Amino acid sequence: MEHTISIIGTGYVGLTTAAILSSIGYKVYTIDIDEKKIDIIKTGKSYFHELGLDEFVENGLKSGNLIPTLSYEESIPNSDIVFSCVGTPDNSDGSSNLEYIFSAAESFSKYAKDGAVYVQKSTVPVGTGRKIIKFINEKKHDLEFSYVSNPEFLAEGSAVHDTLFIDRLVVGGDDKNSLEKIKNIFSKIEEQTVNKDFSNIADYATFYKTLSGKRTSVEFNSKVVETDLESAELIKVTANAFLALKISFANSIALLCDKTHADVNNVMNGVGLDDRIGKSFLYAGLGWGGGCFPKDVSGLISIAKIHDVEMPIMEAAVNVNNDMADYVISKIDPNLTEKIAVLGLSFKPGTSDVRRSPSIKLVNKLIEKGHKVKVYDPKSMDEAIKELDPQVELTENIDQCVTNTGVIILATEWKEFIDADWKRIKEISKAKIIIDARNRLDKENMKEIGFEYKGVGRD
Ligand code: UDX
Repeated sequence: MEHTISIIGTGYVGLTTAAILSSIGYKVYTIDIDEKKIDIIKTGKSYFHELGLDEFVENGLKSGNLIPTLSYEESIPNSDIVFSCVGTPDNSDGSSNLEYIFSAAESFSKYAKDGAVYVQKSTVPVGTGRKIIKFINEKKHDLEFSYVSNPEFLAEGSAVHDTLFIDRLVVGGDDKNSLEKIKNIFSKIEEQTVNKDFSNIADYATFYKTLSGKRTSVEFNSKVVETDLESAELIKVTANAFLALKISFANSIALLCDKTHADVNNVMNGVGLDDRIGKSFLYAGLGWGGGCFPKDVSGLISIAKIHDVEMPIMEAAVNVNNDMADYVISKIDPNLTEKIAVLGLSFKPGTSDVRRSPSIKLVNKLIEKGHKVKVYDPKSMDEAIKELDPQVELTENIDQCVTNTGVIILATEWKEFIDADWKRIKEISKAKIIIDARNRLDKENMKEIGFEYKGVGRD
């Protein structure tokens, strides 16, 4: 392959991109400053749960194309394309913390060779690209480089799927030549994907598709957006803000459904059939969490403020979201003495990630209100323990979790929960009430089994 690539940051975006690019023949350095992460990757697996990723990491190492490293000195000088995939957490005031972004740029300025392309995949506030170009120029004024904004749209839980079946490619910057180089790299993934059997991942994708309207075929060429730097930066956060808005909108309608005995799933199904609106991201429930929506929405509100622009719509979306855990709790008798089983702790199914997880928020609030709570999650127990109130009772499977409880709450819609034998669960748990905080269970079936069913906007 014509390019050697370095990818700074081995998170969901960085490691997935690195592993998949290595699988199509590029030599890819996957760089991180965390020795523990690099050590795990060197053993041929990922340090977080992401379907299909271990296979790509293992194959990358075997072929020698994927090179995990702590060293910028070893990797950057050899690379003609350098991706920045570092984290951009939010500060306590909601603004984006760009510390890692600038330290990655500094490493690039120090070690990059002339002609290298610096590609920003991390989500940054609009205007950051220009600042980084200036910053690199100040650090090393004679370096010849170009800068491309290439925001990433992969979602956790389907990161491999989303990279193989790329939804759309956005590239923004001043240098047409560099935009072309990045387009070519990703179009090569498509060529390979078409010819390979990813049935394992495709199976999951089919399931995922039913959950979130994702597609399972490749149509790369129709989905390339080539634009200016600032627009590319804004496309990413605007897309996430709009999706978050859709969910909060559905949650507002759910509250009205509860008062009027309408079923929000039926309402949104009917509404979503309108192509102008679309069906996806209209599931009401506990609300949105994770590593992207909360910080991207607060980051958008914050950068808008800097430019004297108010975002009342996004502030309302945040407020609706913040209230959802309490709303779900309001469905439980405050004097309940029996234990409550909470199924699911990750911020959504398919991932071990618990960052800003609505389920964890729900559990901790339940404890705060004096309830006794048992929890179970198929993949995120280790990560969840650090975030959970120590009074929570941890369990090892669904059966243990539901045994001798009065109320069961489905907080994260893992497939194994949806497909569980609920008749048996009813028997072992003795619970009278099932709260479907993700609106994914078969309501009629639950009632037949003998549960009192309470969804969010769906009774
Ligand atoms: C999101 C974007 O989808 C992705 O394109 C971007 O690159 C990163 O941010 P992610 O954070 O991994 O991806 O998760 P996503 O599937 O978008 O879900 C976000 C949150 O919304 C989850 O907590 C999920 O449970 C919730 N959600 C989603 C709903 O409550 N209802 C829905 O209908 C859909």
